Amino acid sequence: MHTLRDGTPLPHVGFGTYPLRGEEGVTAITSALEVGYRYLDTAVNYDNEREVGEALRRSGLPREEVLVATKLPGRAHERASAIASVEQSLERLGLDRLDLVLVHWPNPSKGRYVEAVEALIECRERGLVRWVGTSNYTPAHLREVVAATGEAPVLNQVECHPLFPQADLLPVHEELGILTQAWSPLGKRQAQYDAAPVLAPAQRLGVSPAQVILRWHLQRGIMPLPKSGTPQRQRDNLDVLGVELTEQEVAAISALGREDGRLFDGDPETHEEM
Ligand code: A2P
Repeated sequence: MHTLRDGTPLPHVGFGTYPLRGEEGVTAITSALEVGYRYLDTAVNYDNEREVGEALRRSGLPREEVLVATKLPGRAHERASAIASVEQSLERLGLDRLDLVLVHWPNPSKGRYVEAVEALIECRERGLVRWVGTSNYTPAHLREVVAATGEAPVLNQVECHPLFPQADLLPVHEELGILTQAWSPLGKRQAQYDAAPVLAPAQRLGVSPAQVILRWHLQRGIMPLPKSGTPQRQRDNLDVLGVELTEQEVAAISALGREDGRLFDGDPETHEEM
């Protein structure tokens, strides 16, 4: 369903692990693997890389069957710190190699969002990670990265849900060959489960509003990373391949988008997260 620009296929839906922690977190992440997720999204700042590694081992799945992505925190953008951060992530996860490392936030006030990508490219050249990605990069940040390194990140993970559908970013990603991943794909506290454009197709198809929203992402070419601690919801969120929205239904959900639709003050131009 999704492919990186080198042709590597990715699962249609990945598993978001924030804020799953501790023994309960390990159980939830292990359950996600048992119900069929094959892509785990973590971050240094989620403070759960050990739990992700433990769940992978408990699942008994061969390492090569699961893609694992983590993220570099803002405090580690400088080249040497970035490389050290990736090495520490590997140690906490108990892995020899990560599939993806993303720069978590551009933190423009630090001005090192290009250097951080360059450091991850160096990690890739050293065999510590297979692909380099970004998160929350704006079109301007992405273009600076391309100008400096000659390559775009393979994917950019951004806030995306019906209230904030990222209509302007998608064509830039397409132009640069970047896959779009969605964080908070359901919209958390502001999930639009009761909005008519979501509810109507859910009733028509006999599926849940969450499944309609996840399917909306897929039909826009976006890989959603829903989090759920509940096995039944984990299953439902994965079980969306049989759901088919009409073009009009997709457009009606996108029309729920609002300028001020972000979940919190997560504008990458101003949000600083170290
Ligand atoms: P829970 O973990 O109890 O299932 P997002 O991925 O957009 O950040 O949303 C995560 C939130 O949505 C969590 O609170 C999660 O709760 C809830 N959630 C996940 N899947 C579903 C679903 N299928 N239906 C309703 N709520 C869901």
